[in-house]
Amino acid sequence: MKDEYEKLAKSYDRQLKDKLTKNMYKEWREELKEVISNYKIKKGVLIDLGCGTGITTIPWIKKFDKVIGIELSKPMLKEAKKKSTKVKWVNQEIVNLKIKERADVITCHFDVLNHILRKEDLQKVFNNIYELLNSGGLFIFDMMSPESFVWLKKKRKTSQISEESYSKEEVKRMLEKVGFKILKIKKQKTPEWDNKPKRNIFLVRKE
Ligand SMILES: C[S@@+](CC[C@H](N)C(=O)[O-])C[C@H]1O[C@@H](n2cnc3c(N)ncnc32)[C@H](O)[C@@H]1O
Repeated sequence: MKDEYEKLAKSYDRQLKDKLTKNMYKEWREELKEVISNYKIKKGVLIDLGCGTGITTIPWIKKFDKVIGIELSKPMLKEAKKKSTKVKWVNQEIVNLKIKERADVITCHFDVLNHILRKEDLQKVFNNIYELLNSGGLFIFDMMSPESFVWLKKKRKTSQISEESYSKEEVKRMLEKVGFKILKIKKQKTPEWDNKPKRNIFLVRKE
């Protein structure tokens, strides 16, 4: 799989410093904190898929016994490694995950799953995640909806990164096919695109 973040790695964090984007990250953390508390998940292992430079990984060090960040792009991981030695950083691709550890919580934030361009591969990723989770484990992720992509086209904005959109219903079907229980699907504003089109936050559980 091609690394499309190679040239973005060094400036990635700088581009995401505005208040709205910080709030978006905060909303993901708050959602997860709430469900962790509801299901009484104490410590254990958290795996962050597509961890990038570690913005979505490092905040969990104090809450979990072990935190693992998995990322395809070596330059992105290099930036992450500069920030923390407490996380286990792994250079792997999430369609063909080979990691042996099991997790109590899996996170996958900022459209990572929109980078999976084929439906069969997305289904594989969900299967992998289900296998990685312990029973009772939680999986939280966000994804752009087709609505956002239509908006992008209208505005004639194009991303340098190849992404695909999947409808909420489609994603829900794929998750249920693996056996996940859907706990919550929440619309979230997208600050980087005028705050108008929505991405969805999905919270699911392996029963
Ligand atoms: C928008 S960034 C999000 C990074 C981080 N989660 C954050 O919120 O700041 C998307 C990340 O997903 C990674 N990625 C894309 N496809 C991947 C794959 N198949 N396996 C692992 N990582 C992948 C990219 O390299 C990139 O670092």
